[in-house]
Amino acid sequence: MTDLVAAARSLFSQGKGILAADESVHSATARLASYGIGAGAEMRRKYRDLFFGAEGIEQYLSGVILFSDSFLEKGDDTKLFPESLSARGILPGVKVDLGTEPISESPHELITQGLLDLTERLAAHKEQGAVFTKWRAVIRIDGELPTATALHENAKRLASYAKNAQAAGLVPILEPEVLYEGKHSRARARSVIEETIATVFSVLEEHSVDRASVILKTSLALSGSASRKQDTPEEVAEDTLAALLASVPPQVAGIVFLSGGQTPDQATDNLAAITRRAKDVDAPWPLTFSYARALQEEALALWRGKEENVPAARAAFLSRLAKVSSALG
Ligand code: 13P
Repeated sequence: MTDLVAAARSLFSQGKGILAADESVHSATARLASYGIGAGAEMRRKYRDLFFGAEGIEQYLSGVILFSDSFLEKGDDTKLFPESLSARGILPGVKVDLGTEPISESPHELITQGLLDLTERLAAHKEQGAVFTKWRAVIRIDGELPTATALHENAKRLASYAKNAQAAGLVPILEPEVLYEGKHSRARARSVIEETIATVFSVLEEHSVDRASVILKTSLALSGSASRKQDTPEEVAEDTLAALLASVPPQVAGIVFLSGGQTPDQATDNLAAITRRAKDVDAPWPLTFSYARALQEEALALWRGKEENVPAARAAFLSRLAKVSSALG
């Protein structure tokens, strides 16, 4: 096993998963504002420290995905965030895409930016102690969308990113996120997830990307936000695993799930159902969580940007981590 494969596999250590704390400045500002927290650079640093500085997170977290700016920031313990995480055995990762813009041929769909200076940025992050990286593509379901162009163009950039990350000695997490927003059914979400991921792996093969150190980050098969249908965890597990079994090669290092569109309890219950079903159907890859919203929501609601609320907010974060970890079985 190469070092890269071993690093990728170690993110799936028993009972552990990944905290996605890689919201861009824009997304972090919007997230904090939704809890009534006005955010400048120092408030964003405190927001990260709320989670990274919580005692005992290493019991549940194998890795944290940071936004690039956070690599150069220090926690209240005066250590740089990636150093503080590494010292507790948590692998630091970094989001290396630069966000999305509309596709010219299909302006309602998005293509991810960030390949131009990627080699230099990957080398700098490796130097700063990053072990893994993430690239997010966004796929929208709406009527006839997604188009084949959106799927192929995003897959090509994911493959190019993966190749560059591996060459830099960094594990790539490929996140083709199929959005939850829309009126679509769960069956449609399942088929779009399957087609999206199948396209990604077929392009990875054309680019000779080593699948053994690739991690896939995926959405769950959920009925769209505007469909008014509430899926049971068993329905979600059945359709999500059906899509993955039909599209993900057994050689990948593992699959992680995002939490968008689910409450913390739903994200926990859906993960538990998926883990149970994965055992029943003998799924070939390790699975775990890579949640942002589901791990942060309850803590942010208690914190509200106030120092005196830090202990209660951290306790809520640890309690959610314990539940999500238990959902791994
Ligand atoms: P959510 O868990 O909030 O969906 O975020 C995960 C992520 O990394 C989105 O890019």
